Amino acid sequence: MKIIHTIAELRETLHKFKRPAFVPTMGNLHEGHLALIAQAKGLGDVTVASIFVNRLQFLPHEDFDTYPRTLELDCGKLKAAGCDVLFAPSEKELYPEPQTFKVHPPAELADILEGHFRPGFFVGVCTVVMKLLTCVQPRVALFGQKDYQQLMILRRMVKQFALPIEVVAGATQRAQDGLALSSRNGYLSTPERTEAVQLSLALNTMAAALKAGTRDIAALEQQAMDSLTGRGWKPDYLTVRRRFDLQPPGPDDLTAANALVVLAAAKLGTTRLIDNLEI
Ligand code: PAF
Repeated sequence: MKIIHTIAELRETLHKFKRPAFVPTMGNLHEGHLALIAQAKGLGDVTVASIFVNRLQFLPHEDFDTYPRTLELDCGKLKAAGCDVLFAPSEKELYPEPQTFKVHPPAELADILEGHFRPGFFVGVCTVVMKLLTCVQPRVALFGQKDYQQLMILRRMVKQFALPIEVVAGATQRAQDGLALSSRNGYLSTPERTEAVQLSLALNTMAAALKAGTRDIAALEQQAMDSLTGRGWKPDYLTVRRRFDLQPPGPDDLTAANALVVLAAAKLGTTRLIDNLEI
């Protein structure tokens, strides 16, 4: 695997390929990322990953400084997974001057759910992903479905800017008990790790109720919030939404096939976890 730190060397290395498949990450890689690499290998003629902890998508009180940076370990994992090229730019390389030109996704997609609780988050994500796509110039880009809203916003960004890139979703990878894999799971203490599965259990309970015909969405959401709060969590949201625009469903959506997704974000101790389940 070739490890590259500059945009110039990246371009030089990739220009001979016709169909780079690209997996952008912030490092601290787990099986979810490695599954995306495996998926990418079947989709392009060279597999490229990036590792860049993007300051723009962290709020001042969030974990930018403490976000785990594990480059050596990550390189070993990427190599074993068959990644061909790793682009790991420094901040000075990717942001040599303050990144004042930014990509602003529309409020109706980006200021709800994650964007409501983390204002500016999707501006940071869209801006860095646009820049990484410009550097790598892939034909395929893969993003995990665990970050459901991110995936949807990036899909729309690629479409609206007519970027010649196919966006591909990777299924959420889960631990044996059902907890969605995430770099932030590493922040959990042992008792918190045991408790953490309750987030996916709450989503499963909501999904089961919807499948059984529950139509009082507000009550369903409130029950789910109360049950996690009762266990000591601080939920931001547990909510039923339409898949295609993440807005609350109308009566027709509740009976349509493949129309809904339940999404959750909640804090356990100081760790904020997110998860989702398509219904
Ligand atoms: O999902 C992530 O790890 C990040 O948001 C991404 C897409 C790599 C942009 O920094």
